[in-house]
Order: sequence, then structure tokens, then C-alpha cells
Amino acid sequence: PTTQPFKIAVIGGDGVGPEVVAEGVKVLEKIQALDSSVAFTFEAFPWGCEYYLREGKMMADDGLEQLKAFDAIFLGAVGYPGVPDHISLWDLLLKIRKGFDQYVNLRPVKLLKGAPCPLKGVEREAVNMTVIRENSEGEYAGAGDWLFKGQPEEVVLQTGVFSRKGTERIIRHAFEVARKEGRSLTSISKANALNYSMVFWDQVFQEVAREYPEVVTYSYLVDAAAMFMVRDPGRFEVVVTSNLFGDILTDLGAAIAGGMGLAAGANLNPERKYPSMFEPIHGSAPDIAGQQKSNPLAAIWSASQMMDFFGREDWGAAILEAMEAVLQEEQALTPDLGGTATTSDVGDAVIAKLEALA
Ligand code: NAI
Ligand code: MG
Repeated sequence: PTTQPFKIAVIGGDGVGPEVVAEGVKVLEKIQALDSSVAFTFEAFPWGCEYYLREGKMMADDGLEQLKAFDAIFLGAVGYPGVPDHISLWDLLLKIRKGFDQYVNLRPVKLLKGAPCPLKGVEREAVNMTVIRENSEGEYAGAGDWLFKGQPEEVVLQTGVFSRKGTERIIRHAFEVARKEGRSLTSISKANALNYSMVFWDQVFQEVAREYPEVVTYSYLVDAAAMFMVRDPGRFEVVVTSNLFGDILTDLGAAIAGGMGLAAGANLNPERKYPSMFEPIHGSAPDIAGQQKSNPLAAIWSASQMMDFFGREDWGAAILEAMEAVLQEEQALTPDLGGTATTSDVGDAVIAKLEALA
């Protein structure tokens, strides 16, 4: 259960992570100052690659235990040259996602007013999807084998794991979201080629659909879905898909909705048994780290998702409105969006707009 003050663990992480998260925290602090019915506590954790180089581990041994008491985790990015990516990913990010059963990855693919879109002849309103990616198993379960390593008969197996529990709960969650938003639900799979996992996925989708007769449903093969996301994105409203397909399609989604500097994602444990985690979907951007060149809008959008999750959709929407105002005015944009503003200029511009809106 989430009660006030909302307790937020801040893991800035590596590279641009701490810079962008600082702007997200600034926005939340502004909301706290503007609205006496909202209160937060923040606690920072120094985990990440620098910590690894010092301590030989990505997070404290009892890290999950320490995080358990929080309502939400606000994460920047993890990974930096000098530490292998599979270590930084598995020992921090995936440890939290798996340890806290954050089985829903919620990624808005919405073209904000003023955000650039590379698609020709597409209305802004057409790019407005809620993508729900399975986040706990599937193709990323880590199951498989490596036989006869280094020999001519070498064979590797990477097994997709689709449990009934895991498949049903993500699909049911997507139906709940579609019903709440009053929008259609599209399932994206690949049953023609993946003749066990995706046949099963489609079957479960149809089963659960019977419980939600009021939700209009569609089913696409992933290759066709990729094509339609570019040609005719307006077809998609709420989307549910597997871990791998969701990973790829949401990067495509980020590209059509303003780029990596604008893409956010929430890792949710809907039962609220454990904290949920909010993060920009970009990485640590070592090429621009430490120079105040990173775009904090993705991290600020994560803060908006956090407000939604706390049941304060009013502030969630206000943050997006403030971001749209900043994007449309073009006064405070970072270089990835063609401007010359610093990371913290953008954060300041967003809080000024929030103040004006309140
Ligand atoms: P990346 O997302 O860090 O960077 C890709 C490109 O996008 C770079 O040119 C970067 O400058 C640009 N970019 C990213 N975020 C930006 C922002 N907020 N504003 C402006 N430009 C931005 O991906 P890359 O280079 O593949 O990975 C770098 C490191 O980050 C690796 O160690 C990787 O493992 C890690 N990573 C971590 C993720 C996470 O923590 N969730 C996700 C993706 C990568
Ligand atoms: Mg990805």
C-alpha cells in the first residue's frame, strides 16, 4: 500500500543517470512545494559502476532488503565502460526488476506537442500508445545451455519461458489498463513461427479476452506490427507483448515519439507488494556524460509515471503538460532536440511551467 509521504529511493547510477534524475527529483520537489497534499521523502543510494570498481559489487549485499521499505525507486541509468554490461545489467537493474517481481514494463509511446517525429504524413495524435511489455520471463528468462563450447559441434540453446501465471497476469493487467483507458487492446506475438510459446500466448489472450467483452481487441504478428508502427501508428492504443518483442518495439516507439531523450518506462509490481521502479529507457550515454548535455525529459516523464502510480494522475498529467509547453516554446532544449540548453536549464523550465499551471 502506498501512503504519504511517498518514500522514494534514488539510484542515479552511471554516466548521465545522476544528472537526469536530479532534474526529475527537482520536479517532484516542486510539486511538493506547490501542493500541500503531496509529500515525499528521498534517499540516495550510490550504487552502480563506480561503486563496483571500489567495492567489487554493483549494490550492497543487502541492497534489496534496504530498498524494500520504499514506495518507488527512481533510477537513472546503469552501465559504463570498464565494467562489462552483463554485470552491470544483471547485478543491479535485473536484480531489482526480478527481486521485486516488477513484471509489468509500462512504456508510453506518445508524441508530445512540440516533440519531433521522423514519420511523414502522420498526425501527432496518431502516436499515442500505452505499451505493456512482459518484464519477468519470456525470451529473457536466462534459460538455456551452451554445449560443446568451442568445438565444431558447438550448440547454444536460448529457451523462452512462458508460464501460465506469467502470461496470464501480464495480459490481464493489459486488459485492466485498456478498460480503464477506454481504448482498444492489441496483442503482438508470432504464433506462425514460435509454435509453442506464441501459440500459447495467443490462446491465453483469447481466454482472458472473454472476461473483458467491453474491450475491443486486435492481434498482430510482430513483423507486421513493426511495419504498421511506422506506416500507421494510429492503429495501436494499448499494446501487450512479450519481453523481447516489447524491448525492440519500444525502441522503435521511442524513435517515432521524439527520440531516446524523451522515452520513459516504469517497472511495476501492480500488487504493490514490492516497490516499483521508474526510469528513462536510455542508457548512461558515456559520450556526453558529465557535460550537462543530456536531455532530462525522459527522466521527468518517469516522474510523471510515478505520480500516476501513486494515484496522483492530476500531477502526472500536469508534468506532461509542462513538458509540452517547454517543447513548444523551444527556449530550453538540449542538443539532441536541436537546442543549446543544459540539462538543468530544461529542469528549471519544466518547474517554471508547472508553477504557471498550478
Ligand atoms: P545510450 O542510451 O546510453 O546512448 C545512445 C545514444 O543516445 C548516445 O549517443 C547518447 O548520447 C544518446 N542519449 C542517450 N540518452 C540521452 C539523453 N538523455 N539525452 C541526450 N542524448 C542521449 O545507449 P548505449 O550507448 O548503447 O549504452 C551506454 C551504456 O548504458 C552501456 O553501458 C549500456 O549497457 C547502458 N544502458 C543502460 C540502460 C539502463 O540503465 N536502463 C539502458 C540502455 C543502455
Ligand atoms: Mg532496451
